[in-house]
Amino acid sequence: MPDPELIERLPELVVLGHIRTPWARAQDCPRNAMESDATARVEVLPPWRPGLASLEGCTHVILLYWLHQADRSRLVQTPASDDKPHGVFALRTPNRPNPIGLAVADLVAVRDTYLKVRHIDCVDGTPLLDIKPYFASVDAKPEARVEWWEARACPQPPRGQVTEN
Ligand SMILES: C[S@@+](CC[C@H](N)C(=O)[O-])C[C@H]1O[C@@H](n2cnc3c(N)ncnc32)[C@H](O)[C@@H]1O
Repeated sequence: MPDPELIERLPELVVLGHIRTPWARAQDCPRNAMESDATARVEVLPPWRPGLASLEGCTHVILLYWLHQADRSRLVQTPASDDKPHGVFALRTPNRPNPIGLAVADLVAVRDTYLKVRHIDCVDGTPLLDIKPYFASVDAKPEARVEWWEARACPQPPRGQVTEN
């Protein structure tokens, strides 16, 4: 870990709600959000529910969540998909200094207290940090490449269960 005196800190975040998924353990989750078609509930706590207004017209949302079971001490890691170490900022590993998870999810339904979404990869009960509308016009980058991934040693089969909840 870096020298603690060199670490700049921000004020605390607030939990907006919790993501209810079919997966009780990290090792049972899909490896990435697109790997499973299971639906999940994004439950929003009462103080934040007015912020859901107008979401019903959105087809996709960006979800940001706190990967609360992550190991925050690691900066270099050898992923299961490769035999070489990579910096965590070149990986989508949950194990990183600020374990913020990101998924672009299909927005299936908007209710008063929760969203029903598809394409999420987190443990049941994972704290929700933010919801944003996904704009294909500015967020999509079809030309994007990750060279270490294209050259990786061990492509892996999917891990997630396809279930409804
Ligand atoms: C590779 S990460 C990707 C997370 C997110 N989609 C992202 O790109 O930021 C997904 C994995 O994180 C692990 N995971 C899921 N929820 C977690 C949690 N609440 N705390 C720690 N690890 C979690 C599971 O092993 C899951 O397969």
